[in-house]
Amino acid sequence: MIHAVQRPQAHTETHCLPEQYAEMYRRSIETPDAFWLEQAQRLDWFKAPAQGGEWSYDPVGISWFEDGTLNLCHNAVDRHLATNANRTALIFEPDDPAASGRSLTYGELHREVLRMANALKAMGVKKGDRVTIYMPMIVEGVTAMLACARLGAVHSVVFGGFSPEALASRIEDCDSRFVVTADEGLRGGKRVPLKANVDAALAEPDHDTPIDGMLVVRHTGAEISMTEGRDYWLDDLATDADCPCEEMAAEDPLFILYTSGSTGKPKGVLHTTGGYGVWTAATFHYIFDYQPGEVFWCTADIGWVTGHSYIVYGPLINGATEVVFEGVPSFPDHGRFWDVVDKHKVNILYTAPTAIRALMREGDDYVTTRSRASLRLLGSVGEPINPEAWRWYFDVVGEGRCPIIDTWWQTETGGCMITTLPGAHDMKPGSAGLPFFGIRPQLVDNEGGVLDGAAEGNLCITHSWPGQARTVYGDHDRFVQTYFSTYAGKYFTGDGCKRDKDGYYWITGRVDDVINVSGHRMGTAEVESALVLHPKVAESAVVGYPHDLKGQGIYCYVTLNAGEAGSPELLAELRAWVRKEIGPIATPDLIQFTDGLPKTRSGKIMRRILRKIAENEFGSLGDTSTLADPSLVERLIEGRQNR
Ligand code: WT7
Repeated sequence: MIHAVQRPQAHTETHCLPEQYAEMYRRSIETPDAFWLEQAQRLDWFKAPAQGGEWSYDPVGISWFEDGTLNLCHNAVDRHLATNANRTALIFEPDDPAASGRSLTYGELHREVLRMANALKAMGVKKGDRVTIYMPMIVEGVTAMLACARLGAVHSVVFGGFSPEALASRIEDCDSRFVVTADEGLRGGKRVPLKANVDAALAEPDHDTPIDGMLVVRHTGAEISMTEGRDYWLDDLATDADCPCEEMAAEDPLFILYTSGSTGKPKGVLHTTGGYGVWTAATFHYIFDYQPGEVFWCTADIGWVTGHSYIVYGPLINGATEVVFEGVPSFPDHGRFWDVVDKHKVNILYTAPTAIRALMREGDDYVTTRSRASLRLLGSVGEPINPEAWRWYFDVVGEGRCPIIDTWWQTETGGCMITTLPGAHDMKPGSAGLPFFGIRPQLVDNEGGVLDGAAEGNLCITHSWPGQARTVYGDHDRFVQTYFSTYAGKYFTGDGCKRDKDGYYWITGRVDDVINVSGHRMGTAEVESALVLHPKVAESAVVGYPHDLKGQGIYCYVTLNAGEAGSPELLAELRAWVRKEIGPIATPDLIQFTDGLPKTRSGKIMRRILRKIAENEFGSLGDTSTLADPSLVERLIEGRQNR
């Protein structure tokens, strides 16, 4: 039995007390349009909206604030200049702690955004164009996104850890004619050849999207090759001439972000301007409870939605001061997070359970030898946090004085959806908590029957919220199929979830063929496709299994072509192969060579059995009588890799 933890009383200023939450949540459900039009006033609009949410989940069509016009770069940067030009916006902390970082005030950020926007403009970028951003975690990653928003171009950020192949398919899918990159990135002392990766992506045999311009930021100073007439150094094109913000309709696209699903290639999730802006502004304000003068630090990468919403848009729209960190938690040693916290007097830290578990394993000394006195709020995101890691985060890192917010959300939701509010709620370790304003979660059984009260089922959301994704780029039908067809008329999250008697939600993890590896979302089908591309592989099935550090590990069952035999060499080769095809985050943890996959007589792979064996839980395989070859199960158990 896990008990609620009383919320610590260290912080007296708060944006939302318990009574206020109840009252505001009630209003947000009873009169959503009035509630969200009021919240929309957090933003500056060229034309303020009078329309709230106009949406239907059957058929699927979603819009918010449709008659309003605005620009999110103006909201994140320009509007702070009149009164706060000298306030620090970004504190850049480089990978190497001995290298000199830099801080930018809002005034300086404005100038950097103008330089980037003018350079993009000089290459021909205009409203509506897609721009692929493949960058390290440096200031220019943030300014590239803001510059796109300024011009009305749609950014598509691709995580710098993705392979040239993965990058090429993302450039192709949204027909992006422009790329912003850097000579190299730096992570944990290692160089990442970003520009060379883009060159390799564009040279892929089946890549046929012509590139009109590539903008390159000089970061490490490495030698790279520049293609005349296509590639330009930022410094050669940048000017700080005025560059007005485009007036965007609320429903104009802001960005595309690729994310994994249970089938096929990654989907380009599309977010629009007004609703996303309001959602990130409001969630940042209430959930992180940011107070003027505080320092916020989200350790995510801008390549993920967490970086979009809580490094770029949420904090900057709120005029916050924040750390932008290039490095990793383990370099130069496992105390780096706490060094950064002390150096920049970080008050609010937002990180992922996988990082917390990795640091916890290294022992308390790395933490307790640093002061951490500035910390007052700790956040977690990306996967369920196990109570043991929660306890360590709370007791050791936060010394029992900092509330923890465990924020559940998704690329598709735009921002946080279920969490406790630091001033309003008690916490329960392992539970994300309660719905944010306007969010109406529902648990359903596998047949779609609604479950009331304390229950466990599939997590759906029944009513739209401003931050919701509007479509899958170029494939609205896939959007409808993926999210609104499993349980007609509801948004299905793909997560399993419990609700307790106090109304707290406990996410149990994905119920589809999506796995969550170190907080990175991956479709098992993507790893399978990469494996079968190898000339020796006949077939594969990939499942997740519990992994101490990563949350889930990647377990691959592989059958080989006739005449081939499994060997340690081939195993290493396949791991390197997947790494190259997708990127290091997709590297298989365990590979089992097998002479067959368990299939029904109609040829459907019985993944349930493969999951059980991968979990080392083969005592309860359930009914195997429908298998075409029941004897295979014994051999699979015999050859299992997770012992
Ligand atoms: C999936 C979404 C949210 C931004 C980063 C991940 C899992 C996310 C939590 C949490 C339990 C969580 C869910 C969700 N997830 N946050 N606090 N507790 N599970 O975004 O890559 O779109 O992944 O991450 O399974 O569906 P994403």
